[in-house]
Amino acid sequence: MADEPTPKPRPYSHAPRLSADGPIDLRAIVEGAWLELEVGPGRGRFLLERAVAAPEAALVGLEIRRKWATIVDERLGKRLLNARARCFAEDARDVLPRITNSGGVRRVFLHFPDPWWKKRHEKRLVMGELFLTEVARLLEPGGELYMQTDVPFRADQYEHAGLGYNAFEPAGDDAGSAILALNPYGARSDREARADTDGLPVTRMRFRKKA
Ligand SMILES: C[S@@+](CC[C@H](N)C(=O)[O-])C[C@H]1O[C@@H](n2cnc3c(N)ncnc32)[C@H](O)[C@@H]1O
Repeated sequence: MADEPTPKPRPYSHAPRLSADGPIDLRAIVEGAWLELEVGPGRGRFLLERAVAAPEAALVGLEIRRKWATIVDERLGKRLLNARARCFAEDARDVLPRITNSGGVRRVFLHFPDPWWKKRHEKRLVMGELFLTEVARLLEPGGELYMQTDVPFRADQYEHAGLGYNAFEPAGDDAGSAILALNPYGARSDREARADTDGLPVTRMRFRKKA
């Protein structure tokens, strides 16, 4: 009888993970003067550049794709940034509600999320009611939610959602507006860098948690 084929190991089964259930204390994972959270860092350019641009910040990335979470976390390690900056292979929709640092996060970044247009893909969307509720809980008073996209209808959707959310006030260039002309964080995401190269317009917006 022929031998059973040996099952192939799941790719990136060694991806960095957070606890599968229960509370998650980000302060037990990264050290720094304040906490910043990036949802969906993808290839991680922003996380890596931000760790350098803000050397006092403690940073956590939540990336659903194991491959990229693994590669980004390894890159942070190779650059000796991993005491302060980590990237985990996690679905932010599962993890955000379990983070215990209510009122303890200074900034949340969401760069170019939700590239799905079809109605049947709506359940995959990151930016929505749950995301805003959890960000509002996690941010410190005056803490910032920064979002950017090159998809005009998503930009309208995010701006409308942020403006309609009572916990936030717009913190853009002009009073009463959330829109920023430039990214003020000294770091660019991969997609942002590509949009810049291709000359694609990007809509950037910032909301601040009301005191
Ligand atoms: C269009 S890409 C943008 C990547 C990166 N932010 C950039 O600007 O280059 C969206 C990213 O969000 C990640 N993502 C989608 N849903 C997610 C979720 N529920 N939790 C964490 N990451 C998610 C995707 O895997 C992907 O890396």
